[in-house]
Amino acid sequence: MESTRSRLAHRLAEAGQSHLVQFWDELTPEQQAEMTSDLEAMDFQEINKFFRSAMEVSHSSKQEKMDARMEPVPREVLGSVTRDRDCLKDWEDKGLRCISQSSVAVLLLAGGQGTRLGVSYPKGMYDVGLPSHKTLFQIQAERILRLQQLAEQRHGAKCCIPWYIMTSGRTMESTKTFFSRHSYFGLCKDNVIFFQQGMLPAMDYNGKIILESKNKLAMAPDGNGGLYRALGTQGIVEDMDRRGVKFIHVYCVDNILVKVADPAFVGFCVQKGGDCGAKVVEKTNPTEAVGVVCKVDGRYQVVEYSEITLATAEKRSADGRLMFNAGNVANHFFTLAFLRDIVQTFEPQLQHHVAQKKILYVDTQGRLIKPDKPNGIKMEKFVFDIFQFAKAFVVYEVLREDEFSALKNADSQDGKDTPTTVKHALMSLHHRWVLNAAGHFIDENGTRVPAIPSLKDGTDLPIKCEISPLVSYGGEGLEELVSGREFRPTLVIDESGAHELVKNGL
Ligand code: UD1
Repeated sequence: MESTRSRLAHRLAEAGQSHLVQFWDELTPEQQAEMTSDLEAMDFQEINKFFRSAMEVSHSSKQEKMDARMEPVPREVLGSVTRDRDCLKDWEDKGLRCISQSSVAVLLLAGGQGTRLGVSYPKGMYDVGLPSHKTLFQIQAERILRLQQLAEQRHGAKCCIPWYIMTSGRTMESTKTFFSRHSYFGLCKDNVIFFQQGMLPAMDYNGKIILESKNKLAMAPDGNGGLYRALGTQGIVEDMDRRGVKFIHVYCVDNILVKVADPAFVGFCVQKGGDCGAKVVEKTNPTEAVGVVCKVDGRYQVVEYSEITLATAEKRSADGRLMFNAGNVANHFFTLAFLRDIVQTFEPQLQHHVAQKKILYVDTQGRLIKPDKPNGIKMEKFVFDIFQFAKAFVVYEVLREDEFSALKNADSQDGKDTPTTVKHALMSLHHRWVLNAAGHFIDENGTRVPAIPSLKDGTDLPIKCEISPLVSYGGEGLEELVSGREFRPTLVIDESGAHELVKNGL
């Protein structure tokens, strides 16, 4: 024991992190044992190196102006659901064929801590208050099930879309328990694969690791770009290879409209010969806080809104659209070959981004301090940082109202990206699906509600309508259920048909 301790003390001293054991003598033997195993598992030299280079990059990038080096995405690598309508069917067919051959996997990034939403459990377990009370995880699982069914019907062969779920030390156990408690939402357990990303300590501006209590380091997941290291250390690339996966759709947990394994997106990327692709929505407001996909010094990347000037954000092309309008919705396509190259060769070249944060800490007297201004940094890699290594990068533009509504914040008046806004986005999409399938809505007096309802009493509540993903993945297959019929909201369409809910509990 003594030698373990002195070895550890020596390693800490060498790395300039001896303060981590300053309260050692006050700890219980159990706390000491736990802390020893936490500290032994850490590579302090590597962490110090990450800190130095992250700080260097963050200082230099602040000085350099990004604007002059940016170019928009060229038209030839861009596919658009509105501008390339003629190709859509081909792309979708191509994608469905790949899915029917079980060569498409989906990969969910679910290692975030949901700090802004303010819940203590993983965001995927959140119930936004739909009539069915389905969680984000359940909605995504059911879309996978439906898509497998569509591909099977089309091509007459059984297929599977493996679902890889990246969690972190903070979300692993609760996520796994949730899935098991819900019997994997009808998916085959073997095809839902959980793996864990790494964690990094928060550091003060002098590179000292922060203690959040006398016996615990302040640790946080290493960003959604922690994916690439985890793919290697957890044997995920091999697993994909073994299963015959060739194409991977990577997405974030918070988008309630996400089209998991979207056949049209996959088909577009494959048809174009892309090794790496990004789904985007058109950015229409220069001050919208969204990153844009573009080229910088000839290489693709996402430039955050905070990195450019208003003048650049406001620039317009000849067609009147914003010049930098490819808004990143964190939906990416990768070939397995590309991911393998990243894991084997390029991952160590990815730099950590620095986020300045207010981090709870204990001071030298052992008092817990809640700082009122940023006192340290968290280091994160980003999932899109590998775009620069693509040999054939492609971009796919979709409609925001059909595909993107993210849950970021807790409900508040006029809040953006809240449980209410995402619930409304889903119901509004499903409302349109019913109208497109020739169904109608009527109000409490039996009068038809116009397709574009007027604002009542200053509110713009959507028609309450929810369609189970088990019935329809993207609006298909609804005619026989709704055509020529009139419905009084709340309308719920599930495997047992179309029902009006008597109680309007929303
Ligand atoms: C992300 C995108 C941003 C995009 C926006 C759209 C990144 C880095 N940024 O921003 O460009 O406009 O979505 O909604 O992708 N996660 C992990 N591990 C982590 C941290 C996060 O798995 O260590 C996961 C989260 O669970 C979530 C996703 O990554 O599913 C996005 O994380 P978040 O930090 O919320 O990114 P945004 O700032 O919203």
